[in-house]
Amino acid sequence: MAQTEGRLAGKNALITGAGSGIGRASALQMAAQGAAVMCADLDTQAAEGTVALIAERGGNADSLGLDVRESDQVLAALQHTAGSFGSVNVLFNNAGVGGGFGWEDTVAINLGGVFNGLYHGARHFAAQGGGSIINTASVAGLVGLTGPHVVDADELDPGAGAYVAAKHGVAGLTKQYAVSFGPHGVRVNAIAPGYIETPMTAEARDDAQTREYLLGLHPLGRFGQPQEIAAVAAFLASDEASFVNGVILPVDGGYTAR
Ligand SMILES: NC(=O)c1ccc[n+]([C@@H]2O[C@H](COP(=O)([O-])OP(=O)(O)OC[C@H]3O[C@@H](n4cnc5c(N)ncnc54)[C@H](O)[C@@H]3O)[C@@H](O)[C@H]2O)c1
Repeated sequence: MAQTEGRLAGKNALITGAGSGIGRASALQMAAQGAAVMCADLDTQAAEGTVALIAERGGNADSLGLDVRESDQVLAALQHTAGSFGSVNVLFNNAGVGGGFGWEDTVAINLGGVFNGLYHGARHFAAQGGGSIINTASVAGLVGLTGPHVVDADELDPGAGAYVAAKHGVAGLTKQYAVSFGPHGVRVNAIAPGYIETPMTAEARDDAQTREYLLGLHPLGRFGQPQEIAAVAAFLASDEASFVNGVILPVDGGYTAR
């Protein structure tokens, strides 16, 4: 059951990739604002860890194991969340992987996983008269990526192209579902983070040359914190964002402003 106080009181959220980074911070943030949160992740133990953190803070959460690549698992997760909390009205399609996974896995997780969430989530929310769906895109959903090293085509990391293509796909799906399901009261938006200090970016941030290069791409001169994405996710989930639909919102310290 949802709590009765807080900006998200009465909201019940399903968050994918909730075991780490942006997903964990968003689960904590939404729970702190009164939502009941189902923490879903491929790494079930990590999702349980997030639930424990929420419980320590007096929030309401539960966890489930989920592979977003599997359409039937995503549908079952929505149904399980609705059964546990009485309903589900916020879906954060956040699970994803970084570079180095190659074309098929990157697209299956980062784009296919979001599609599975939208496909089942939008129908579920439309049937109950509304809801808010948030997708995690990336600055790589708006522009191509650059790196510190000058490389020729043969040396290009195939994961980078796949990541950029998948995230641009997330932006496209966000717009299409916003258009198609807006008339049913379903808002669909995406967040496009710049580089955020999560395990996904640890390797890049640990390499001195790469770190300096990437910092220079952010006019604020620093990387973002997962809480800074979570704050925006909580806003988009809330009724304060009641007229926000179909946006790909950069939260990137100015990365895409030039
Ligand atoms: N960290 C950044 O700088 C950054 C920037 C832009 C976009 N993003 C996006 O933000 C999202 C979250 O990334 P993060 O930085 O928090 O990474 P993270 O690695 O800290 O967390 C990702 C979580 O997703 C889970 N996951 C991976 N594959 C899954 C699957 N098939 N099914 C279910 N769960 C799965 C992982 O187990 C992990 O807990 C991703 O979509 C990522 O592409 C991150």
